[in-house]
Amino acid sequence: MCGIVGYIGDSNVEKVLMQGLDSLKYRGYDSAGVALYDNGNIKVFKAVGKLENLQNKLSALSDDEKRASMGIGHIRWATHGSATEVNAHPHLSMDGNIAIVHNGIIENYKELKGELEAKGYVFKSQTDTEVVAYLIGDEYKKVGNLKVAVQHIIPRLKGAYALCIMCKDEGGKIVVVRKNAPLVIGIGNGENIVASDIPAIISTTSNIVYLNDDEVAVVKKDSVEIEDLNGNKIPLNIQKMSIEMDAISKMGYKHYMLKEIYEQPNIVRNLLCGRITNVNTPISLDEVKISRDALKQLSRVQIIACGTSLHAGQIGRYLIEDLVGVATEVEPASEYIYRKNTTDKNSLVIAISQSGETADTITAVRQAREKGAYIIVITNRPDSNITRYADSILNVNAGIEVSVAATKSYTAQLLTLYLFAIYFAEVKGVSLDRLPSIKEELVSIPVKMEEVLSSDADIEKKAEALSKYQNFVYIGRGVNLPTAMEGALKLKEISYINANAYPAGELKHGPIALLDENMPVVSVLIPGHISYDKTISNCEEARARGAKLITITSSDDKELEKLFDVIIRIPVVSDMLSPLLAVIPFQLLAYHISNFLGKDVDQPRNLAKSVTVE
Ligand code: M6R
Repeated sequence: MCGIVGYIGDSNVEKVLMQGLDSLKYRGYDSAGVALYDNGNIKVFKAVGKLENLQNKLSALSDDEKRASMGIGHIRWATHGSATEVNAHPHLSMDGNIAIVHNGIIENYKELKGELEAKGYVFKSQTDTEVVAYLIGDEYKKVGNLKVAVQHIIPRLKGAYALCIMCKDEGGKIVVVRKNAPLVIGIGNGENIVASDIPAIISTTSNIVYLNDDEVAVVKKDSVEIEDLNGNKIPLNIQKMSIEMDAISKMGYKHYMLKEIYEQPNIVRNLLCGRITNVNTPISLDEVKISRDALKQLSRVQIIACGTSLHAGQIGRYLIEDLVGVATEVEPASEYIYRKNTTDKNSLVIAISQSGETADTITAVRQAREKGAYIIVITNRPDSNITRYADSILNVNAGIEVSVAATKSYTAQLLTLYLFAIYFAEVKGVSLDRLPSIKEELVSIPVKMEEVLSSDADIEKKAEALSKYQNFVYIGRGVNLPTAMEGALKLKEISYINANAYPAGELKHGPIALLDENMPVVSVLIPGHISYDKTISNCEEARARGAKLITITSSDDKELEKLFDVIIRIPVVSDMLSPLLAVIPFQLLAYHISNFLGKDVDQPRNLAKSVTVE
């Protein structure tokens, strides 16, 4: 959600900014803009909609018109005020001396705006960001120094911010500051770059500095200096970035989503590496820092997450309750934070977030921490905000996920939850007779995932036939109810087709009224568990109402062909581990349907990769 880039150096500033913004598009946006500094002038260009619209505007300019020695750029996902050019960033102070771009939300902007209006300031936009630009402009008039003006106004801001600021009167420097919103500085050779996320930096340098909350950095062409708000110097901690260019390239796939679906077997393979050495040896999970004694004493687990991560958490609940026998609740973070919950110092809270920037999940973790709970964060971004509140961080190591629809991060979260549940059971000394076979089967999962992927061409054909339907019902039971929910979410997100998931047994309690020949029912059927026969019965009930039946199954029973119109077979797998395989056909179905319908697979409308507002 929103993206920031700032660049100072001898390369073509406009190009570096636009490339940087292009690499951040995946986060979701609905307008874009850049401010170019040239010889005491700041020129601002903005456009609503796709980045191409801004690019077209810039391409129509002469080289002279877009000459610049530094610049800042932004993609905006509208929060305060709709997606218009006036609301798009960069914003200027009223006298035009200061230009800023901002990620995050200033919670007290109305109060600050009122104060400035009382002084005679007139605002052009509806944004909270313009208020910050005016505030810095106002302070700059008093102190005549950009860095000091920023240091003075930061304590007045409530909320989250990553700010990138230029001043007409102070060429040769970009001032940046952050709090609860990501911002990274890339240290180049005779050039420096700042951005809200690493993909925007990767083609300039692999040396990076993470800025901490309320540290103010003055970024010049040949230097970066950091101070706290009181002017105390902070040493630069330059780190080598581990992410390769491949991570943010499509590698020949038509879309990032397809590439990311195909990455899953290797991600799982890598995650398993070194964890399960021998099925009879306890699992190794050194990242879990809670003492074994404390873990043994725990009587309660709460899992908090949003969207796809929530579905992973719901499967986590089955695993922990089944293998460990400890009561586990799962709740959307957006619900948890607004009610009187009973989290306490005896609770283990597991927060799951791919991006680590989801505002609801971060707030939930903060609240749980204040109540004394032990916090485990499962994330794909160990450098993200949420990890600041973690006692233990489990990095799912899926590599940067560019497509808005989460796929590989989901299976990586799942695998991490399997590992954690086994570890927890071993520490507690329970389910010990079952664990060796579960571990053995886990090790076979990557190859089985590859087998599922090898039927992609067949799934694509089936998807084409299914793409004519406007409504779907997804059903599942037990550990695969969340799989059905995830399948329905994937389809909704990227094809805009209405797909609702229900526990299979609930169909007859209401949703069955929806069914007819225009409403296919998609199920998950894994033999070897009582839920198999029960789900078949539910499918028969749907068939009796004329619904077309589709199933994803590990059964090779030919009889199923009499009942189901479409069967997608996956390799033989236990009910417990089946979510790791069953989700892949759901991802592929959603992908191919979206592609057939000509939708924007990687950047679906209205969605952002990381949702940084509550
Ligand atoms: O980064 P997070 O895992 O915290 O994100 C949570 C949801 O916003 C996310 O899973 C969303 O539902 C995805 N678009 C799913 O594909």
